[in-house]
Amino acid sequence: MNTHALEFRNVSKVYETDGGDRLAALDEVSFVIEPGKTVAIVGRSGSGKSTLLHMAAGIDIPTSGDVSIDGQLLADLSEGDRTLLRRNRIGLIFQFFYLMQHLSVYDNVALPSMIAGDAPGLVEPRVMELLERVGMADRSRDRVQKLSGGEMQRVAICRALLKRPRLLLADEPTGNLDDENGRMVMELILSLAREENGTLIYVTHSPDFAGMADETMQIHSGKVIA
Ligand SMILES: Nc1ncnc2c1ncn2[C@@H]1O[C@H](COP(=O)(O)OP(=O)(O)OP(=O)(O)O)[C@@H](O)[C@H]1O
Ligand SMILES: [Mg+2]
Repeated sequence: MNTHALEFRNVSKVYETDGGDRLAALDEVSFVIEPGKTVAIVGRSGSGKSTLLHMAAGIDIPTSGDVSIDGQLLADLSEGDRTLLRRNRIGLIFQFFYLMQHLSVYDNVALPSMIAGDAPGLVEPRVMELLERVGMADRSRDRVQKLSGGEMQRVAICRALLKRPRLLLADEPTGNLDDENGRMVMELILSLAREENGTLIYVTHSPDFAGMADETMQIHSGKVIA
């Protein structure tokens, strides 16, 4: 049985541009990532990094080829089941955080469990454990709109990890932060992923941050070149 955390087999994604041209954002990409690994994806702007993460998360489907998570072929799932898999097994972290500005830090982190209808008694210790871990426990009642960028990203990391996802996907998680906050956030994501035995894939433009991963994957014009 296939137990790779993530597998791409000949995955292509072709977009139709407004000018009517066909643009291969991903071109016959194949790779496997083993459970518990941390992988940095690097490559120039427009090379296909975000497209790759979207395919991995099942947010979008490939034009051709197969994506599987823990041996489960995403194409075999209905859209509803893909959404459930994403909620339960995948944690997503983005450059612009995407938090609910008017909600508290606590509620933002707890949101995935509220949506899933998990028992509040089980959710609270998990939320507080994570906030504690990123140094934000004393801000749990504050509205997110009061926070700095680095603090917002730390909250977004807690939200992504809440349901103990097996696969953590982060698209330029430090892209909107200064060097010092970027480094702190990068170190937190890596150490939390490792502590929780998750597989982590993150996109970064920083060679320094890429070097912190177990493996690096370089993308050029939609192809994996190393
Ligand atoms: N929905 C879309 N429709 C048409 N073209 C798209 C779409 N999404 C992405 N593309 C194109 O696919 C290519 C890859 O885009 P992608 O966002 O994956 O690049 P990226 O490597 O993440 O770049 P960046 O470092 O700037 O974030 C680009 O040329 C982009 O313009
Ligand atoms: Mg991108």
